[in-house]
Amino acid sequence: MNQNNDLEKIVIIDFGSQFTQLIARKIRELGVYSEIINFKQIKSLTKNKSLKGIILSGGPLTVTNKNATNLNGSILKLKIPILGICYGHQILAKKLGGKIKVSRKREFGKSLVKSKLKSPITKKFFIKKINSVWMSHQDIIYKIPKGFKKIASSDNSKFAIIADEKKKYYGIQFHPEVSHTKNGKVLIKNFIFDICNIKRKWSLKKQREILIAKIKKQVKNNKVICALSGGVDSSVVASLLNKAIKKNLICIFINTGLLRKNEEKEVVATFRKKLKIKLIYINASKLFLIKLYRVTDPEKKRKIIGKLFIYLFEKYSKKIEKVKFLAQGTLYPDLIESKTVTGSPSSKIKSHHNVGGLPKKMNFTLIEPLKSLFKDEVRRLGAQLSLPKTILQRHPFPGPGLAIRIPGEVTKEKIDILKNADFIFMKELKKSNYYNKIWQAYAALLPMKTVGVMGDNRTYEYTCLLRAVTSEDGMTADFFSFNKSFLQKISNKIVNSVRGINRVVYDITSKPPSTIELE
Ligand code: XMP
Repeated sequence: MNQNNDLEKIVIIDFGSQFTQLIARKIRELGVYSEIINFKQIKSLTKNKSLKGIILSGGPLTVTNKNATNLNGSILKLKIPILGICYGHQILAKKLGGKIKVSRKREFGKSLVKSKLKSPITKKFFIKKINSVWMSHQDIIYKIPKGFKKIASSDNSKFAIIADEKKKYYGIQFHPEVSHTKNGKVLIKNFIFDICNIKRKWSLKKQREILIAKIKKQVKNNKVICALSGGVDSSVVASLLNKAIKKNLICIFINTGLLRKNEEKEVVATFRKKLKIKLIYINASKLFLIKLYRVTDPEKKRKIIGKLFIYLFEKYSKKIEKVKFLAQGTLYPDLIESKTVTGSPSSKIKSHHNVGGLPKKMNFTLIEPLKSLFKDEVRRLGAQLSLPKTILQRHPFPGPGLAIRIPGEVTKEKIDILKNADFIFMKELKKSNYYNKIWQAYAALLPMKTVGVMGDNRTYEYTCLLRAVTSEDGMTADFFSFNKSFLQKISNKIVNSVRGINRVVYDITSKPPSTIELE
């Protein structure tokens, strides 16, 4: 499944909680390797030296429903420590003979838990036998299974923490992985180190060496191509490969003309001059514009851009001799199988295109060196590989680029106007220390002209829309609250210095019901 098969690990069984990835990241921060699998794959877990413990995640399901999922009993046969969190706590208790019911009172948000009995799981967790935690549940356990003891309780959850110390099974009703639970990390630490007896063997530094060695072994003296986008993931892949195989790496960078202002210059300078990586630079700006001529439908735009990108990438990669491998920046969250518990694909809102979406029929073997890493780990790895902060901290940018930030027809004039407005917005965000507090921000150009007045003259120009959102993963998002003076400053700067814009608006919708991009 990934590069870390021999490493001691904790496996997290995902029941669909929005915090599952957070548990995995917390464990890795503690220097221990962790992996997430879907609950439908439980049976695939087998007894082996590397598997030291299992965590059952929370989830939106209920165990009280007649058709509720049952915990697959095969994990009990493994005879290793298990920690159930929230839904995981309830499904574990139910499987072992406990009783659960729908509570009349729901418990969402802050709650106080009180210590009832000492246990290795709560070592150094309570302060004066009490702690503030974050709950999110409606079902409660009202009878614990045989062999279990009550370790802590809250007003609403009599069995907030339970333990069968002999079997090393633990259940926690609240979420220790979220920051609202005070000392939550201590519980995770106690479980993995004191109960599972795992050692700290995972670090990014070690991981980097392992990845480099594996790439060397796999690639030998063959050539690898890599599609650079200027984004974090492909940049880190390229610099990692560069460390491993140097001259045998060839990067292809296609300038679609739909990138942010000066982006292509920065990418070429960083990779060719600073990192001394072989880079084929293709300026296809004109070609993309021709193909987009008079196209207004968002999906058509996306398809045209995606198709042309692939066509160009194939065309230029075929010119390079003896290429055997194609490197891609697939990350761990891309691989985690089910985001929805039912596993049903969510309805298609937009057809995404990114450089990771190159067709499988290309005759190359895939190398995906980042496939066991989370985004923040990839950023830290990039810093270790001396990539500049401008690349590592850059907000996400969609494959179709500025084309989907110009609703309606895309023209050279509109692209230039937008690049300048966006540049001002980004510069001011950085100057005011907002940039790193925001998940993604950009300017868009709306396809309508309105009347304005500048000096004594009437103007009739485009409207610039500013968007800035906070988010965990782009699936949901909230608009960012700027103070009035900042918005005023941006509006003045854009209108005063960008010819073609005489009005600036700020988008205050969240996702859902809106999406982050306009198209
Ligand atoms: P939406 O607009 O769907 O965007 O709320 C969610 C996140 O995905 C990014 N995005 C894309 N990324 N290729 C990409 O690589 C795409 O085609 C694409 N479309 C949207 C968007 O910028 C946001 O971060």
